[in-house]
Amino acid sequence: MKALCWHGKGDIRCDSVPDPRIEDGRDVIIKMTACAICGSDLHLMDGYIPFMEKGDILGHEFMGEVVEVGRDNKKLKVGDRVVVPFTICCGECQQCLKGNWSVCERTNRNAENATKAFGYPTAGLFGYSHLTGAYAGGQAEFVRVPYADVSPIIIPNGMSDQQALFLGDIFPTGWMAAANCEIEPTDIVAIWGCGPVGQFCIKSALMQGAARVIAIDNVPERLALAQQAGAEIINFDDEDATILDRLKEMTGGHGADKCIDAVGAESHATASFDAIIDKVKAATLLGTDRPHALRAAIMACRPGGIVSVPGVYGGFLDKIPFGAAMNKGLTIRTGQTHVNRYSQELLRRIEEGQIDPSFIITHRAKLEDGPELYETFRDKKDNCIKVVLTA
Ligand SMILES: NC(=O)c1ccc[n+]([C@@H]2O[C@H](COP(=O)([O-])OP(=O)(O)OC[C@H]3O[C@@H](n4cnc5c(N)ncnc54)[C@H](O)[C@@H]3O)[C@@H](O)[C@H]2O)c1
Ligand SMILES: [Zn+2]
Ligand SMILES: [Zn+2]
Repeated sequence: MKALCWHGKGDIRCDSVPDPRIEDGRDVIIKMTACAICGSDLHLMDGYIPFMEKGDILGHEFMGEVVEVGRDNKKLKVGDRVVVPFTICCGECQQCLKGNWSVCERTNRNAENATKAFGYPTAGLFGYSHLTGAYAGGQAEFVRVPYADVSPIIIPNGMSDQQALFLGDIFPTGWMAAANCEIEPTDIVAIWGCGPVGQFCIKSALMQGAARVIAIDNVPERLALAQQAGAEIINFDDEDATILDRLKEMTGGHGADKCIDAVGAESHATASFDAIIDKVKAATLLGTDRPHALRAAIMACRPGGIVSVPGVYGGFLDKIPFGAAMNKGLTIRTGQTHVNRYSQELLRRIEEGQIDPSFIITHRAKLEDGPELYETFRDKKDNCIKVVLTA
């Protein structure tokens, strides 16, 4: 079968690889009908996540039709259309039972690597390095789905692939980022990053009742989409002032009650000293992440507020203003998304027409065009916001 494989920094290829097989009674095999490229895939492409090996199959936002079912799987049957959440969950460990799905204690096959890096293992993830279980990803014609009696979401006929696909990652990610803010009706929510995740943060914060949402980026078409969704915008390229000062100015001195970092490890900044240092450190392997947006979010958050961090980080972050966080009494919430917590509610919201997640898609292509589209998405060429690939 065809699959998109990682071969090194900036080197993604469409390879011919063996078809997957059922390995455990709870598995299913799906024939992929749609998959997407996520901002998290860019961190792999750009070499920010360690423990990748040549030939690893990428992709963790995907859906398809069940074509084979393991003998112990009582949930799915051949022909079901399913979206597969990117987190692999056993459904039985203490964390799964608590609803902390993305830190399932059993599904990471390389638990010892994760324990070394993080102190404890975290869940297995599709297509996301040997730190998270070395599972083959979903940017492939066929995918083996382990523990497939737990997380896959059965999609009703009548809902298109393009409407359903993002239930596996960016829609619940934006939703959880907003939910982590415990939004109150008077809240002003500032969101760094208007990529796909940022866009779902904006929609979710408004659906959860924020008074105002202010979105920050420097990519014109992404800012335009944010504005269409009802956000006010700041283009950080146009600012001489800090984002903190600009937010205060836009809100009569009040500032942001809640702040969301939807940028993650590869933050850009215009000629800011901290960002230049990050870039040099990351390039020379002295640092792992470029957390400029996280620093800005902590500084910009009002005392007593919440900083919610869906943005992915890989390692040790430098020069985080923890003194500001501590003295202002901020709450910081983060995590890979506990997708299963939100699956049924968000499926219902799509069915009821409250949101059509396909608004985000700008590029549709075939799997073999994937390597080129990874570059288009990374470099924000051709007004690219979200890529969907079909087999
Ligand atoms: N927590 C989770 O489970 C989860 C799930 C999906 C994605 N993510 C993460 O969310 C982040 C965003 O994903 P995406 O798909 O939207 O990626 P993306 O790369 O398309 O979007 C990032 C956006 O941030 C903007 N940006 C860069 N520097 C900025 C700055 N200083 N201030 C404001 N904006 C800035 C970029 O221009 C871009 O539009 C990534 O880190 C990704 O790994 C997390
Ligand atoms: Zn993702
Ligand atoms: Zn578990």
